[in-house]
Amino acid sequence: VLCYIFNMSSKILVANWKMNGSLDIFADYLKDLQKGYDFSNTQLIIAPPFPYLNFIKQKIVFESIVVAGQTAVLWNDGAKTGDINCRILKDVGCDFVILGHSECRINNTFNDGIASDTVKSALNNNLNIILCIGEEIVSERSDDVIIEQLMSGIGEIDKKYSKSIVIAYEPVWAIGTGITPTAEQILQKKQIIYAVLHSLGFIDTKIIYGGSVTPENAQYFITNAQIDGFIVGKACMKADSLKELLKYVDYATNL
Ligand code: 13P
Repeated sequence: VLCYIFNMSSKILVANWKMNGSLDIFADYLKDLQKGYDFSNTQLIIAPPFPYLNFIKQKIVFESIVVAGQTAVLWNDGAKTGDINCRILKDVGCDFVILGHSECRINNTFNDGIASDTVKSALNNNLNIILCIGEEIVSERSDDVIIEQLMSGIGEIDKKYSKSIVIAYEPVWAIGTGITPTAEQILQKKQIIYAVLHSLGFIDTKIIYGGSVTPENAQYFITNAQIDGFIVGKACMKADSLKELLKYVDYATNL
């Protein structure tokens, strides 16, 4: 496995900037973030819009901070105007790619039908993967939805890649809404995800949570839902707030 291997004992924090940021904003952000930075137990993964990837990569001074693409198409190089594939992401310095985010599923640039081939393309290009799964609404189908998303993403993937894949449980109804599941609800979903992972022999795969995570609720989730970290949208976009989140995640690594 040629993927960049991140420290397996570390927790993970993904800063998903979505379609936000500017050169000035990212320059200040990286400066403020890295001032007195002492969160080396945590793998921080910054996912900016594509054009800022290399700019940010050049400004990173800590080994525990890496960059990720927010999505990728499964195709090799060719006539696909406007698309970005995993080879290009690797070339500009990414160690990770986020796949299957609900915002990509909703705008139809990602679906279960292409999940497996896109995961394979990422692995072939030595990228680690944050695979996002999550139900749109709470219903009796919720568990089936996440099992289907999980199986379509990694059901055909060799278990030797279990370290290279992180599963992000992001219930769609919790994204950007300020509404969050309880730790018990996350634990219940985690058990289902864990059962699928184990049936596939994926014993080293981490499970993180996303959806309205803030410095106020991060400690509650990390201690009570026993997750391996977070994927964060809104609360990652200020260096101070990101550092608050890092404080709880990094501390939990040592528990
Ligand atoms: P918010 O943290 O803004 O709810 O976004 C979550 C998310 O979609 C991260 O990928």
